[in-house]
Amino acid sequence: MVRFTKGVALFEVSAPSNIALIKYWGKTGNQLPCNPSLSMTLTHAKTLSQFKVQIGSGKFTFLLEGSERIGFDSKAHRLWEKIAESYPALLKYDVVVDSRNTFPHGAGIASSASGMAALAQGLLALADVTDKKVVSDFARQGSGSACRSVFDQFALWGKSEHLPHSSDLYACDVSNIHAEFVNMGDAIVIVSSREKSVSSTAGHELMNHHPYAKRRFEVARENLAILLAALEKGDWEGLIDVCEREALELHSMMMTGRPSYTLMTPATLDFIIRFRSWRDENKVKAAFTLDAGPNIHVLHAHSEKERVEAWLNELISEKKFEARLLFDVAGLGAQTIDLSEAQQ
Ligand code: PMV
Repeated sequence: MVRFTKGVALFEVSAPSNIALIKYWGKTGNQLPCNPSLSMTLTHAKTLSQFKVQIGSGKFTFLLEGSERIGFDSKAHRLWEKIAESYPALLKYDVVVDSRNTFPHGAGIASSASGMAALAQGLLALADVTDKKVVSDFARQGSGSACRSVFDQFALWGKSEHLPHSSDLYACDVSNIHAEFVNMGDAIVIVSSREKSVSSTAGHELMNHHPYAKRRFEVARENLAILLAALEKGDWEGLIDVCEREALELHSMMMTGRPSYTLMTPATLDFIIRFRSWRDENKVKAAFTLDAGPNIHVLHAHSEKERVEAWLNELISEKKFEARLLFDVAGLGAQTIDLSEAQQ
């Protein structure tokens, strides 16, 4: 429950970004997925949103690092309107949200996932709603993949016969995870920090008339079944196979779409080739994946952290490869922290 002191409530929501192993690419209706997706929740790459609330008349202000910005701002307003429509009690407040991301812009980490999860969780806290399903449902309406950032470690979004409590409306925990995959690391290799040349809206749109869409949605389901079994058994070979095919399928869809987009760069492919040969030669428990951009995520077993980081650092220091690195790890979903005491 949000605490008001002298008519003002001050709290922060910390919401992580997530990286999909099974990709959501293609949507229908009110932001519903054409296939189920499965992601790992990150720890360090997150959005921190401070909420300052006082009694008022339903004025909503959204700031990014202290100033109003066009773009994310309008998405944030739309989400506020949706939540206030379902919970009109919110209209008795004036709400100022000041958001910042802990990760650099253009790092290939989805800020809409963490940003929308933080916003949904904070606004719903004002209506005393903490049920993760509801938070996830509204986060989804802000940005599809955001619904997965509410949950710890691994989250699944989309109805699947393999998880009876799964739904297209919200994400849920994937709890049957072998010790091999707990606290999995994610080394992010930034080969380009240029803005994405295709918005995810345009990317999803591509799937509405893509010649391979129907088969892609079926294959995503098949891949999900293989991944769930691998996660349960601790099967790295299975995870590597599915995870890397999913990344390449996402990019193939873009390349063979109408219009066609190429979001990988030569550096992405060069890295993939080097990585696969090092990984296979040294039997490293690690797999790459890609988001809708050129940067690479190297998912790896907790026990492989040193080997993976040492190899990446060496690759870069020897100038065999130009990139920046960010190291992350699987962690907790969105959290709300009361700041009113710190303020007094
Ligand atoms: O949530 P959106 O609309 O930004 O779409 C995210 C799409 C991917 O990041 C490419 C895949 C995913 O499942 O996160």
